[in-house]
Amino acid sequence: MATNKSQSMTYSLDIEKIRRDFPILRREISDGKPLVYLDNAATSQTPVQVIADITRFYRDHNANIHRGVHTLSIEATELHESARRKIARFFNAPTSDECIFTSGTTESINLVAHAWGRQHLKKGDRVVITEIEHHSNIVPWQILRDEVGIELKYIPMLSDGTLDMDYASDLITTNTKLVAVTAMSNALGNITEISAVVDLAKKAGALVLLDGAQSAPHLKTDIQQLDIDFFACSAHKMLGPTGIGLLWAKMEHLTTMKPLMGGGDMILTVSMENSTWADIPAKFEAGTPNIAGAIGFGAACDYLTNVGMENIRNHEMQITQYAIDKLQRIERVRIFGPLDSKKRGGVISFNIEGIHPHDVGQVLDSDGIAIRTGHHCAQPIMSALNVPATARASFYLYNTEKEVDKLTEALNTVIEYFG
Ligand SMILES: Cc1ncc(COP(=O)(O)O)c(C=O)c1O
Repeated sequence: MATNKSQSMTYSLDIEKIRRDFPILRREISDGKPLVYLDNAATSQTPVQVIADITRFYRDHNANIHRGVHTLSIEATELHESARRKIARFFNAPTSDECIFTSGTTESINLVAHAWGRQHLKKGDRVVITEIEHHSNIVPWQILRDEVGIELKYIPMLSDGTLDMDYASDLITTNTKLVAVTAMSNALGNITEISAVVDLAKKAGALVLLDGAQSAPHLKTDIQQLDIDFFACSAHKMLGPTGIGLLWAKMEHLTTMKPLMGGGDMILTVSMENSTWADIPAKFEAGTPNIAGAIGFGAACDYLTNVGMENIRNHEMQITQYAIDKLQRIERVRIFGPLDSKKRGGVISFNIEGIHPHDVGQVLDSDGIAIRTGHHCAQPIMSALNVPATARASFYLYNTEKEVDKLTEALNTVIEYFG
């Protein structure tokens, strides 16, 4: 493995080489300050390899897919379907037919809630989620609760943000039909003990939906090994483009689900009276899809595979621990979530006592440092922590120890400035 000897920390990745693949990282912000991009949990940056594949599609192959007999349409179809196969391989899905392209995690979870939920859940059936979910794994279930009368229960979080598994075992009873959990909290960075959740769900005869929006970019994901039923993620958090994501589901579930959207491409026949559905996955992909997005998603999976997910995880654990240790040394900084980087991804939520996170974010931006502030679409976590918002720095494979130093220096300036 290559190492970067120019840094005081020995990385398992050649970070400088990786950074050269991301032109945006050479940008300057606010009067020539080099960009320090620490908002990866919201959206990651895109390497030239992904940009090139998307550009090549529009330059050389652009056409609609599936219906055409002409060369461009056949080429576009092959690129789109080969992206689906790459994504299936990346997540070790048993077959690419089980991989449905969606616009992202939000649409994927909504598809399960509405297409599977309306079909299989009835009044009184229990769906268990957690207090640490992103809104996109809360609101669709609340909508379904109000429509169908399901019982929606939450596994609470403990003070360090980890899930209360004792409580979970009481909650996941035999009338539980689905347990839907995030694999990694976007607000705190905690990594969920998925196997413990899956065990409880299996014992109760419930299905498991895993929200992989935060885990897929950073942890090796083997869908078959996880032994889950549904998996959702977004390409834009894993070096791919926006507007494209994945819903993987076991074929036995997809077969029983009704399509959510009707239109072109998802039908076999249409008459004035009724319609019949195309095979899966087309049945769930009505209309012209995001072809370039799918190709970019496939290219992003290739890029991550080439770098190696284990290498990425090791790098992120090092840099996150380094950041936690440095942040802890700043008086008035409170870090949320576990302090051990083995228990979390590269997301650090923190506050500075007496200074609003929004002010922290604005001052950092004037230093070229991009972090996120707010409730991170996880308002139940903010309520549990009893804070209105947090500041959040989130790392990816291209971030460096030097950038963490810049963050902590800038935070000291913020404290001096606001007093
Ligand atoms: C854990 C988690 N789930 C779901 C989502 C929603 O993802 P998207 O906006 O790409 O649909 C996010 C986005 O931040 C997330 O972090």
